[in-house]
Amino acid sequence: MRATHVLIEPMNEELWSAVDRYISDVLVGHDAVLDAVLEASDAAGLPQISVTPNQGKLLYLLARMRGARTILEIGTLAGYSTIWLGRALPPDGELITIEADPKHADVALANISRAGLPARVELRRGLALEVLPALASEGKGPFDFVFIDADKPNIPEYFGWAMKLTTQGSVIIVDNVVREGAIIDETSGDPSVRGVRRLNEVLAREKRVSATTIQTVGAKGYDGFTIALR
Ligand SMILES: C[S@@+](CC[C@H](N)C(=O)[O-])C[C@H]1O[C@@H](n2cnc3c(N)ncnc32)[C@H](O)[C@@H]1O
Repeated sequence: MRATHVLIEPMNEELWSAVDRYISDVLVGHDAVLDAVLEASDAAGLPQISVTPNQGKLLYLLARMRGARTILEIGTLAGYSTIWLGRALPPDGELITIEADPKHADVALANISRAGLPARVELRRGLALEVLPALASEGKGPFDFVFIDADKPNIPEYFGWAMKLTTQGSVIIVDNVVREGAIIDETSGDPSVRGVRRLNEVLAREKRVSATTIQTVGAKGYDGFTIALR
């Protein structure tokens, strides 16, 4: 047996989680505020569907690399990714995050306060497809960085609004776009898979962006991110 087989054969969620913990311990580090954010989210009974610490740091690094001063997030939950992204902003930066569920929004607001970010972060309550046109009519944007992480069937519509609210050089990230590999099933009746496949059709036609998708494994299973540069 070659050495690589020893490494590859035990590939499973347990190993992915152990590697996530190792990377998190060595490179991401422990942060009392972010730990408290997740504890508050669990205590309030919110689903454990935030990005992992390693992915949160990836978002933070991408926003820093872009030099983002304005960020739009669609899908706040408890504000975990919001806080990672908020920390990537300069002191005069601005982040708007959209959340439809009132309980999630309440927990997120408390967490954003806990992180000392209320001056930089504005939470908009409501359905994203109603809030996004309102942001456009208020003249918000252009946003340097957009993170799309709400309901998946509407991903192409969120991407369309992201295009209206960004400009050349903006970065658009979409989470949960591999769905344990289900996205290659062109006959899938799963509305989330169909949402991702429609996004890919839009991206393939859209001349103003260059995009790719990376598959990810880790504590939250097998999924992926799409990264698009305008
Ligand atoms: C995957 S969670 C967001 C996780 C968060 N970005 C993080 O990583 O910490 C998705 C969130 O989107 C919200 N959501 C779902 N559909 C929505 C909609 N149509 N408009 C706004 N928010 C929505 C859900 O209530 C949920 O809190």
